[in-house]
Amino acid sequence: MSLMLFFLATFLLLFHPGSAGDPFAFFDWDVGYKTVSPLGVKQQVIAVNGEFPGPIVNVSTNWNVVVNVLNDLDEPLLLTWNGIQHRKNCWQDGVLGTTCPIPSGWNWTYQFQVKDQIGSFFYFPSTGFQRAAGGFGGIIVNNRDVIAVPFDKPDGDITLFIGDWYIKNHTDLRKMLDNGKDLGMPDGVLINGKGPYRYNNSLVPAGIDYETINVQPGKTYRFRIHNVGISTSLNFRIQNHNMKLVETEGSYTVQQNYTNLDIHVGQSYSFLVTMDQNASSDYYIVASARFVNETIWKRVTGVAILHYSNSKGKASGPLPDPPQDFYDKTFSMNQARSVRWNLSAGAARPNPQGSFRYASINVTQAYLLRSGPPVVINGKRRATLNGISYVPPETPLRLADQYSLKGVYTLDFPERPLKGAPKLGRSIINGTYRGFMEIIFQNNDTNIQSYHMDGYAFFVVGMDYGEWTENSRGTYNKGDGVARSTVQVYPGAWTAVLVSLDNVGIWNVRSENLDSWYMGQEVYVRVVNPESTNKTELPIPDNALKCGQLEKFQNLQTPHHKTASSSITTGSSGPLVLFMLLLVYITNFS
Ligand SMILES: *[C@@H]1O[C@H](CO)[C@@H](O)[C@H](O)[C@H]1NC(C)=O
Ligand SMILES: *[C@@H]1O[C@H](CO)[C@@H](O)[C@H](O)[C@H]1NC(C)=O
Ligand SMILES: *[C@@H]1O[C@H](CO)[C@@H](O)[C@H](O)[C@H]1NC(C)=O
Ligand SMILES: *[C@@H]1O[C@H](CO)[C@@H](O)[C@H](O)[C@H]1NC(C)=O
Ligand SMILES: *[C@@H]1O[C@H](CO)[C@@H](O)[C@H](O)[C@H]1NC(C)=O
Ligand SMILES: *[C@@H]1O[C@H](CO)[C@@H](O)[C@H](O)[C@H]1NC(C)=O
Ligand SMILES: *[C@@H]1O[C@H](CO)[C@@H](O)[C@H](O)[C@H]1NC(C)=O
Ligand SMILES: *[C@@H]1O[C@H](CO)[C@@H](O)[C@H](O)[C@H]1NC(C)=O
Ligand SMILES: *[C@@H]1O[C@H](CO)[C@@H](O)[C@H](O)[C@H]1NC(C)=O
Ligand SMILES: *[C@@H]1O[C@H](CO)[C@@H](O)[C@H](O)[C@H]1NC(C)=O
Ligand SMILES: *[C@@H]1O[C@H](CO)[C@@H](O)[C@H](O)[C@H]1NC(C)=O
Ligand SMILES: *[C@@H]1O[C@H](CO)[C@@H](O)[C@H](O)[C@H]1NC(C)=O
Repeated sequence: MSLMLFFLATFLLLFHPGSAGDPFAFFDWDVGYKTVSPLGVKQQVIAVNGEFPGPIVNVSTNWNVVVNVLNDLDEPLLLTWNGIQHRKNCWQDGVLGTTCPIPSGWNWTYQFQVKDQIGSFFYFPSTGFQRAAGGFGGIIVNNRDVIAVPFDKPDGDITLFIGDWYIKNHTDLRKMLDNGKDLGMPDGVLINGKGPYRYNNSLVPAGIDYETINVQPGKTYRFRIHNVGISTSLNFRIQNHNMKLVETEGSYTVQQNYTNLDIHVGQSYSFLVTMDQNASSDYYIVASARFVNETIWKRVTGVAILHYSNSKGKASGPLPDPPQDFYDKTFSMNQARSVRWNLSAGAARPNPQGSFRYASINVTQAYLLRSGPPVVINGKRRATLNGISYVPPETPLRLADQYSLKGVYTLDFPERPLKGAPKLGRSIINGTYRGFMEIIFQNNDTNIQSYHMDGYAFFVVGMDYGEWTENSRGTYNKGDGVARSTVQVYPGAWTAVLVSLDNVGIWNVRSENLDSWYMGQEVYVRVVNPESTNKTELPIPDNALKCGQLEKFQNLQTPHHKTASSSITTGSSGPLVLFMLLLVYITNFS
């Protein structure tokens, strides 16, 4: 058996197309529905190989990741890889501007390299409001063995997905938005797909399955926390325990203790937590809704259990307090400003050495992107940036370029908010290759927002309340602004980021707040190398799906559903086990 695996692994390493020398990790995923009751009411969620949340992709810098995805849902599917930069390769980004969705019953294989990256990220379905039903899972990119990590090796690695949750399923939620309705208050917060521990009998019904994290006294664990929710910012805390922040979305941070941290939709953080308490009982792990009236939103709280092996009993009593700052707008923003880059930590860096001293680079393009409360355009409730609500064309933008199709999009996205009535559009940003772009997100909505950019990490250089002006540049952090891919923008405030446009492709800039995104709050940045060369972008993959105007070029697949239940028991588990063994083998072999 091991000899066979050896030959198989060798074969795959040698003959699989991709970056020679760097290891491959293979995954075979069946994405389908599963019925669970996280909040005590049965509902269909999206599972990967029967798991909700999905499996973790655990790889190291420069590995090639190959994921064969079978769409076992009854609607189109696209997975995107939040924070993975897909250098030279927006073909694999998994958003509607670059990739056609995988039709129901079809499979499609993603292949990408996690080039020059480290850190904690997650994947999720990017269309049709599906993230509200799950389909997400973690991505861990470890340092290469030869590169030191800026802290001692933790005794364990724990991933937690936190997020607001509705009992209504994603198709019903979608319908509400299509009908111009607000989704209202979520029904709860899930932690790893599970409902709250029954810390209070009147707030939490009996019979809810909750998450338990088992730990050993004295040990230190790395907790990777991802807010995979729809629209709620969450305050995360572990009762009686300090959380030492060490990494966010691919950058090692200045290491500092926090007793709680606000984690906004789409953001990822790593903390080291030492089990230094006396285990007189279990401890609460809490993710509670932020910037809302907590009396009304009590139900919208995720509670899991931290269980020491020598624990003397169950957790009881009230939850640890959230920050008491309902009338103090500065606490959360100051906390956000305290997240800075550790400039001396060695790690794969997403950007070229030049942009490491980002403050000395001249800005070549500046965009101020203003969001506001939802508006009505042509009778539909929509969300805008600079007065434009994006409507994805049928043909992905990048494919339109490849086949020289005209008129699919326009390159005239305005640098400042448009005056006049808001409108629908498919206008995108003309990014200058190797330029240095400043983007100011100005939030004129009454809710907190978070914005994400695909293909890049940007330097978070400033945020403040009020309207951004040229003078605001004087307040920027010119030294250790952290490089990440998702940043919060407080209501009535702005956040400024700088990004070096060295990655050719067409890249999504979006609201991570799922309702705003669904209603059109997104744009793309097109970065084209004016020189004709094959070195700055990979060719279109052989298996690229064709849709929209190119549909006639697509060979049809016969739908081959497996149904989620069969995938857990028989069917795919054989090959899956083989792939896992291979993965383990390749890991040891390389
Ligand atoms: C969502 O729930 C509605 C009933 O409220 C049902 O008709 C629909 O099939 C469900 N969709 C999914 C994907 O479970
Ligand atoms: C990821 O893989 C590495 C070996 O490459 C292993 O040491 C580590 O425990 C794994 N992490 C998780 C969370 O599975
Ligand atoms: C679908 O899966 C089959 C079997 O694993 C594979 O041979 C084929 O290449 C896949 N198709 C695509 C488009 O990825
Ligand atoms: C930054 O990283 C260095 C190098 O790994 C480490 O020694 C140092 O403790 C870190 N500094 C802070 C403030 O986190
Ligand atoms: C449970 O929550 C309710 C409603 O917030 C509160 O009135 C009550 O005091 C709580 N019970 C306990 C035991 O904390
Ligand atoms: C951070 O918390 C840990 C664990 O509680 C503690 O050992 C350490 O001294 C704290 N560090 C600082 C700088 O407060
Ligand atoms: C354990 O710690 C808690 C809180 O820090 C304290 O109240 C309690 O007295 C301690 N119990 C023991 C047995 O030391
Ligand atoms: C929160 O809501 C409660 C109940 O409606 C109300 O009594 C209270 O004044 C509100 N708190 C704040 C800070 O607005
Ligand atoms: C940046 O712009 C200033 C003023 O226009 C110019 O003097 C300087 O040489 C430029 N720096 C770089 C690195 O291009
Ligand atoms: C896009 O920007 C490039 C410079 O980066 C410029 O040459 C080109 O004309 C612009 N295209 C449009 C349509 O504005
Ligand atoms: C939105 O902009 C208007 C006009 O500039 C201003 O009066 C209002 O306070 C802003 N609201 C927020 C939440 O920023
Ligand atoms: C890029 O590759 C394509 C296909 O291999 C080839 O036809 C074309 O000439 C190449 N272009 C350049 C500028 O090398």
